[in-house]
Amino acid sequence: MCGIVGYVGYREASDVLVGALRRLEYRGYDSAGVAVLNGRGIEVRRCVGKLVNLEKLLITEPLRGAIGIGHTRWATHGRPSEENAHPHRAGNVVLIHNGIIENYLELKAELTAKGRTLSSETDTEVIAHLVDEEMKGGVSLVHATRNAVRRLLGSFSIVVMSDTEPGRLVAAKTATPIVLGLGERENLIASDIPAILEYTRDMLFLEDGEMAEVTRDAIVLTDFEGNVRQRAPKRVTWDPVTAQKGGYKHFLQKEIHEQPQALIDTLRGRIRLETGDAPLAELDPIDDRLGKIDRITLSACGTAWHATLVGKFFLNQLARLPAEVDYASEFRYRAPVLGERDLVIVVSQSGETADTLGAVEEAKRAGALTLAICNVLDSSIARRCDAVIYTHAGPEISVASTKAFTTQLAALFLFAVRLGRRLDRLDASQASVLLAHLRNIPQLTEQALSLESRVAQIARRHANAQDFLYLGRGVNYPVALEGALKLKELSYIHAEGYPAGEMKHGPIALITDQLPVVVMAPKDDVYSKTISNLKEVESRGGRIIAITDEPSDELERIATDLLVVPKTHSLLSPFTLTIPLQFLAYQVAVERGSDVDQPRNLAKSVTVE
Ligand code: F6R
Repeated sequence: MCGIVGYVGYREASDVLVGALRRLEYRGYDSAGVAVLNGRGIEVRRCVGKLVNLEKLLITEPLRGAIGIGHTRWATHGRPSEENAHPHRAGNVVLIHNGIIENYLELKAELTAKGRTLSSETDTEVIAHLVDEEMKGGVSLVHATRNAVRRLLGSFSIVVMSDTEPGRLVAAKTATPIVLGLGERENLIASDIPAILEYTRDMLFLEDGEMAEVTRDAIVLTDFEGNVRQRAPKRVTWDPVTAQKGGYKHFLQKEIHEQPQALIDTLRGRIRLETGDAPLAELDPIDDRLGKIDRITLSACGTAWHATLVGKFFLNQLARLPAEVDYASEFRYRAPVLGERDLVIVVSQSGETADTLGAVEEAKRAGALTLAICNVLDSSIARRCDAVIYTHAGPEISVASTKAFTTQLAALFLFAVRLGRRLDRLDASQASVLLAHLRNIPQLTEQALSLESRVAQIARRHANAQDFLYLGRGVNYPVALEGALKLKELSYIHAEGYPAGEMKHGPIALITDQLPVVVMAPKDDVYSKTISNLKEVESRGGRIIAITDEPSDELERIATDLLVVPKTHSLLSPFTLTIPLQFLAYQVAVERGSDVDQPRNLAKSVTVE
């Protein structure tokens, strides 16, 4: 997620801005920039890479002035480059932005038709031009910004300044956060509290659909219609480290909670209920080849591999195509039999995993069509594949994957619908029903988050166990695997995931009253079979932690602990069932005192074999 800062006061703005951006580094970024206004107007400095590059540039080309804006960019539209870095200038206007503008292509076409030249690949630059356009004829910065943001679709927070209105910053937001810091003879703006905590603890939180006009001595809040809003500032008492984690104890906990928003961002603009389509314009260049494929192989590592196992169900059921799944580390060395009618889908959060990149090379060598599902823009895997669907989970800081997983599921589901429609194997009305369920998923995951304290109680009771068994069937068997992996990684407890029906062929020997058995038991087609498996565990004294979407007397009687998640279409149940499993792994790890965000021996991105 991009970092946003703004300053107006009496200090050297570039020092304040770079310092504030440094405190947002934990969010992840690929380029940075600042703009400062002085007697010569607004001057901009931007750089690819780490903040240290920007600091070096500011030594050779310093910026003087007591008002400015700064930004660290996490690329979403357009690769990381100096031209795509923020701030963006258009005429007299300079602007920074966090979020995604859905209608930027229409707006870009309109601005180009008016003779404007846009020099970056970003959606952001469009907003700067819109504001500049609106300022024509002497309209004030705040009015022009208001007119411009009313034309934007999507989620955004922006901060704007203009050569023609020195001493004033204007901020506006619809979704991504903006906090305003109130100081003595100075005021500050940031996307996140820690950036400005050094200067003030008195903060105003901009709400969706609000704007702020910020000068050295005042902050005026209005809505997008221009009505004044009044609110008292809040005193923030967090220490700087807690502040970085958004008030959560760990990044992992924060990222679990970010899933509803990450899913909204991943689904945005990609669901069309009226026509039953999942428009993924990024696939248009490979559309002809997609129409000819007759087999799919999915490949990935770790958590992303679990996502591909769920994806196989989506593709089988919605596109009616044979699909197989392989670990990338195996696929790349097994001389897979592939041809030009094969599609190889690789899934990777980082886009840099060496084995997954190796799988792409193998698929390309064999002449297969390659598609990446990736979170990091312009990463090696994204660049190497014929097409890429980006998840918009934002940076994942904690080593163990959480929000990357659920957004990968969302991207795979969208793709399965898109392919099913393309191959005429899914009709519009069926697709529309499924997409309507998918659209509700962010809200249902939000509801599932309320299980956190209940899961914490369960975790306390089982934290001393030496082994865990996770069981699931069908589309939730991979969810069981993912639950077991999370527990292993975070708490170092041995855990195994198994298909519930397979338990009696071996793992049943492990069951004693010391073994917690975590079971996915949604009320789906195989529910009664799952209950039979649970009875096998019960009769051997196993401790059952069951997760369902519809409680029954029977389940309540068998389970030691029962967790109920919101109900959705059975194919989509992995989204909701995953949440309590993430919490369970997290809370057990906390109980055992593990290093939750950086578990031993693990790296966030495995770029070696
Ligand atoms: C698990 C985890 C790893 C990664 C795996 C693939 O929590 O984080 O198993 O999922 O290393 O990484 P990416 O998705 O970056 O290719």
